[in-house]
Amino acid sequence: MTTVLLDDISFSHPDGGQLFHHLHLAIGSERVGFIGPNGSGKTTLFHIIMGLIKPDCGRVVMDDKVVADSKAWRQLRRQIGFLFQDADDQLFSPTVLEDVAFGPLNMGCDGPTAKSKAIATLNSLGLADFDNRITHKLSGGEKKLVALATILVMEPDILLLDEPTNNLDPATRERLVAILAKLNLPMVIISHDFDFLAKTTDVIYSLEHGHLHKSESIHLHTHPHAHVYGDHPHDHGG
Ligand SMILES: Nc1ncnc2c1ncn2[C@@H]1O[C@H](COP(=O)(O)OP(=O)(O)OP(=O)(O)O)[C@@H](O)[C@H]1O
Ligand SMILES: [Mg+2]
Repeated sequence: MTTVLLDDISFSHPDGGQLFHHLHLAIGSERVGFIGPNGSGKTTLFHIIMGLIKPDCGRVVMDDKVVADSKAWRQLRRQIGFLFQDADDQLFSPTVLEDVAFGPLNMGCDGPTAKSKAIATLNSLGLADFDNRITHKLSGGEKKLVALATILVMEPDILLLDEPTNNLDPATRERLVAILAKLNLPMVIISHDFDFLAKTTDVIYSLEHGHLHKSESIHLHTHPHAHVYGDHPHDHGG
């Protein structure tokens, strides 16, 4: 089992206020949700975990070793699948197949193997027949799912998902809940969608003023409500 530890992380952008104060977090044994206001630093924390931003103090530790040199960061990036908040930051090839096969090819797979891994991953995400689609012409939700495919094809040990439900319609969002449930991987999910986090994670932290606060429990409750277009078929989950 791969574990990642954020140990005593503090960070401020040069021209901004302090985002984290001596923050600790262990990743690897459970599914963690992050919720927090815009600008509270959720995405920045993922960038620190991936070594894209260096903290002012503190360490990222993987499997009990401090990640210190470029070889160790490469190894961490191989083992952690990071879904960017903006799918356009993740996708760069002309076609979907080329984008999803890129990672396996880069890891030394031969062409046919990379292609079959890519197609199997696309199928598992309900994206059969997307292989020849032009990446930049996909819809926002389609791009998000293809970006997820580029990560899952690499068979990561841990997932970091930054707002995975952005642009997804309700049915696709529920499909993503089922896909993530089947994966059996530790993950950290950033989302503003509390219901999605309640369905996909074991523990939810809110990030505010540089600190992570654990939500101790989820209280199921109902609200009287009305819908515009209320005759449209819908459900409210479990
Ligand atoms: N390169 C940068 N230089 C200066 N400030 C930055 C830089 N990148 C991000 N910030 C600031 O850091 C803060 C945290 O940004 P971040 O993207 O981590 O927030 P977030 O919690 O992911 O927000 P959202 O929910 O909107 O995605 C914001 O105020 C942002 O403007
Ligand atoms: Mg963000």
